Amino acid sequence: MRVITTHSELQTARRSVAGSVGVVMTMGALHDGHLALVRAARAEHATVIATIFVNPTQFGANEDLSRYPRTFEADRAMLEAEGVDILFAPTGDVVYPAGFQTTVKVGEIASMYEGAARPTHFDGVATVVLKLLNMTRPDMAYFGQKDAQQVAIIRRMVHDLNVPVSIAVIPTAREDDGLARSSRNRFLSADERRIAPALHRALLNAAAAYDSGTREIEALCSAARGVLHAAGIASIDYVDIVAPATFAPVAGAADGPVLVVSAIRVGSVRLLDNLLLPESLNTRAGLTANLGAISDESPELC
Ligand code: PAJ
Repeated sequence: MRVITTHSELQTARRSVAGSVGVVMTMGALHDGHLALVRAARAEHATVIATIFVNPTQFGANEDLSRYPRTFEADRAMLEAEGVDILFAPTGDVVYPAGFQTTVKVGEIASMYEGAARPTHFDGVATVVLKLLNMTRPDMAYFGQKDAQQVAIIRRMVHDLNVPVSIAVIPTAREDDGLARSSRNRFLSADERRIAPALHRALLNAAAAYDSGTREIEALCSAARGVLHAAGIASIDYVDIVAPATFAPVAGAADGPVLVVSAIRVGSVRLLDNLLLPESLNTRAGLTANLGAISDESPELC
């Protein structure tokens, strides 16, 4: 695996690559969730590029960028073991050199849920993802269901700005007890870690209600909220049902696949999770077809 840190080295390496290219973008602190994306890319492309960059522009002024876990040596070893060809790990001034002043501004889809909690977050994500796509020029880029709103926004951007790349959506990788794998889980105390899987159970309860015929949004949300309350989770940022393509809240009753989304706070840690309903859609094919899907994309590419 070649480790590359500069733009010009990356361009030289990219020019010498033949065949299809898959890219997996990360902020490091890698776990099995990230590696699921890498494994999918490895199985499908001649060349796999992984990127590690803790992107400052997606952190809010009140969020501690310096607290983000940095485990570069372990990350590098994991990516090498998974057969990654190129690891691009630029520094801040490579991505945002002096004079940088052009950004992507995402519209309404970035105003709700995670966007409401973190107002500048998705503009920062969209900008760095577009830059990394332009620098790596992949045929396919892999993203995780875990950050479903991020997927919807990236697909919107790729469509709106005619970026020539296919987006693959990989199901959320979970711990044995259902907790979605996340670099934030390491900040949970032992007691908080015991409570945290209630978030996934809550979404499964909504899925069980949906699968047994419930379609009223309020009933589906209360099925999820009930589990959170029973687990003693008082700090619920949101539990809601949205249209998977647009992240617009659904009112009344679900008439087709919907996405149940939730963010809660356990101690100082904000945990996110989501599930497509019906539950059978939470596969790569189901997710890629429904989550942030844009109708005239070519699904056969994913
Ligand atoms: P990061 O949080 O490091 O996540 C990198 C990729 O791994 C994202 O596509 C994310 O959805 C996916 N991922 C994380 N946990 C996962 C899990 N448990 N199961 C499946 N996939 C999972 O998301 C970012 O970085 C950044 O915003 C980035 C896109 C790199 C832009 O800076």
